[in-house]
Amino acid sequence: NKMLYNDQIVERENLINIEDRGYQFGDGIYEVIGVYDGKPLMLDEHLVRLERSAREVQLNLPSPANELKTKLEELVAENGLNEGIIYMQISRGAAPRWHEYPAKDVLPVTIAYTRAEERETAVEDEGATAVLAEDIRWLRCDIKTLNLLPNVMAKQKAVENNAIEAILHRGETVTEASASNVFIVKDGELYTHPADNFILNGITRRKVLQLCDSLNLKVNEETYTVDDLLKADEVFITATKLDIVPILEVDGKKIGTGKPGPVVKQLIREFRALYM
Ligand code: PDD
Repeated sequence: NKMLYNDQIVERENLINIEDRGYQFGDGIYEVIGVYDGKPLMLDEHLVRLERSAREVQLNLPSPANELKTKLEELVAENGLNEGIIYMQISRGAAPRWHEYPAKDVLPVTIAYTRAEERETAVEDEGATAVLAEDIRWLRCDIKTLNLLPNVMAKQKAVENNAIEAILHRGETVTEASASNVFIVKDGELYTHPADNFILNGITRRKVLQLCDSLNLKVNEETYTVDDLLKADEVFITATKLDIVPILEVDGKKIGTGKPGPVVKQLIREFRALYM
């Protein structure tokens, strides 16, 4: 099993310096990319988002996105990955531990590896439950940074309640979930939080918006409340590899009929057609 370490594909081992800023400060950015039938899905979109995250935190990417793309494709081929994910992160590099950015000669550290994962279509077909959690994150959730402790804590709450996700809310407003975006359906129209600083603009979310457009489904990129969520006809979450999962119950309260609804079922069918 191989990994990408800066610009080299090497045998997977622990090459991380104890003073790596990703390790000490969460000072870095990352992407998770789904691999279906040996092919990374929407890789270009993930790399564009990575470049944006880098710009927003003033991290100079060590190599252009097209070179990274080639390396990631090579890694998938080397590892013979058929179904799973690529995890890639770029930290600001290793330097003596001071909070401010290190000197310009400290180069960012890129790592990527693959993980085989079965395609989990059952949860998409059957749906899952979620819990609510207060969104205690910072105000730049649009940047895909390594700082995930609030997300980790929220996901733990979900798992302790046998739920797939924790749906986050700032006061009354639903933002997203601990590692996915949230959509609701009411009277045939969809609602999802606008792509501002309060959410990560998911690649899957954007694909769902495109699919809705081609299916003539109206989507309102508007905020909605916890009450709207609980009274919705349908709720679903979107994320890499999870794809689209119907949420049938939130905090023990049944959503709509308590079964996957017609809108989410149609979107799941269309999404699968992208890689099947
Ligand atoms: N998480 N919102 C948050 C907070 C996320 O962490 C993610 C993805 C998403 C969905 O984005 P996308 O559709 O681009 O995967 C939304 C990844 C999968 C993770 O951290 O494992």
